[in-house]
Amino acid sequence: MQTNYIIRGFGHYAPERVLTNADLEKIVDTTDEWITSRTGIKQRHIVAEGESASDMAAQAARQALAEAGMEPAELTHIVVATFTPDSMIPSTACVLQSKLGISGQMCVDVSAACSGFLYALQTARGYLALEPEAKVLVVAAEVISRRTNWDDRATCVLFGDAAGAVVLTGGGEDERPRLLDMMLAADGSLGDLLTVHGGGSAYAYKMGEPVGPEYFVQMQGRETFKHAVRNMTSICEALLERHGVGKSEIDVLLPHQANWRIIDAVGRKFEIPPEKVFANIDRYANTSAASIPVALSEAVKTGFIKPGDLVLLTSFGGGFTWGSALVRF
Ligand SMILES: CC(C)(COP(=O)(O)OP(=O)(O)OC[C@H]1O[C@@H](n2cnc3c(N)ncnc32)[C@H](O)[C@@H]1OP(=O)(O)O)[C@@H](O)C(=O)NCCC(=O)NCCS
Repeated sequence: MQTNYIIRGFGHYAPERVLTNADLEKIVDTTDEWITSRTGIKQRHIVAEGESASDMAAQAARQALAEAGMEPAELTHIVVATFTPDSMIPSTACVLQSKLGISGQMCVDVSAACSGFLYALQTARGYLALEPEAKVLVVAAEVISRRTNWDDRATCVLFGDAAGAVVLTGGGEDERPRLLDMMLAADGSLGDLLTVHGGGSAYAYKMGEPVGPEYFVQMQGRETFKHAVRNMTSICEALLERHGVGKSEIDVLLPHQANWRIIDAVGRKFEIPPEKVFANIDRYANTSAASIPVALSEAVKTGFIKPGDLVLLTSFGGGFTWGSALVRF
């Protein structure tokens, strides 16, 4: 069975258009000061008309494949994490496959909201465990701007659009970056705290009916915040314990980018100094599943993560879902 999981390349993409907090002040009753102090967000990227999750996924995927020195045709599996797929059918993974100009690979979408990338990565590990020669493209792509209620100031300031990608394959003991271990969890009883109900089969609607707020992200922010800090902390502690790693051995903490205060709180719990905590939430806002692969790709390309670093990833999202992962660079 394959036990070495090597990340061969990183890619990320964000749409050209930028919406600043000042722009939002013109749309809803908010201020740059409120958004910055409560979240750390200064701006977010928004897709162009006609641009979709699969378009962004293709950009990020091509970058990751180029970095991995691989042709798309070498892939055996494509896994896309998204809660904003291009359509219900076909899956965004299938659309992406077609946009990459390839066919034959197994293609599947994973739905775990903001934890989607870590869930997709675990799915990829599963495929590799079954097929040691597998070469798995793992992409997360979100067009949250099309699932945003632009009249709801409590949510519309929080999100942005982006995509991130990695290629996961097997490899030798000494190859890096190596995905050492992961843990994932969920608590479906808390699902109603963060939802997009509209369009789902449990919520019947008829042709011609107006689209209501339930078609967009609805969130109880304060409750979500508490669960996010608690669960990210506990699953990181559990992973470190299972892996026999002390807090002081972590070189970089790279958490899901939902809110600077959440990132900061998790960093403090692990006594990781702010200069070792990667954050790009000021420029991207919360891009849900895309946030970790975008951050990873940026952190690698800018040298924030260096060869030899032990990196702790952690996520939290709707479901609720959460997870942690350890990567040795
Ligand atoms: C959303 C979040 C930033 C709100 O911060 P908060 O301190 O909890 O603020 P509240 O929602 O309690 O609102 C406080 C006040 O600000 C107001 N407010 C909400 N959004 C606002 C905005 N964009 N601009 C100005 N005021 C706003 C509220 O109406 C409320 O006013 P009131 O006290 O007069 O009723 C915060 O709860 C959060 O980040 N939650 C987690 C989000 C998250 O991580 N989600 C994704 C998980 S993956």
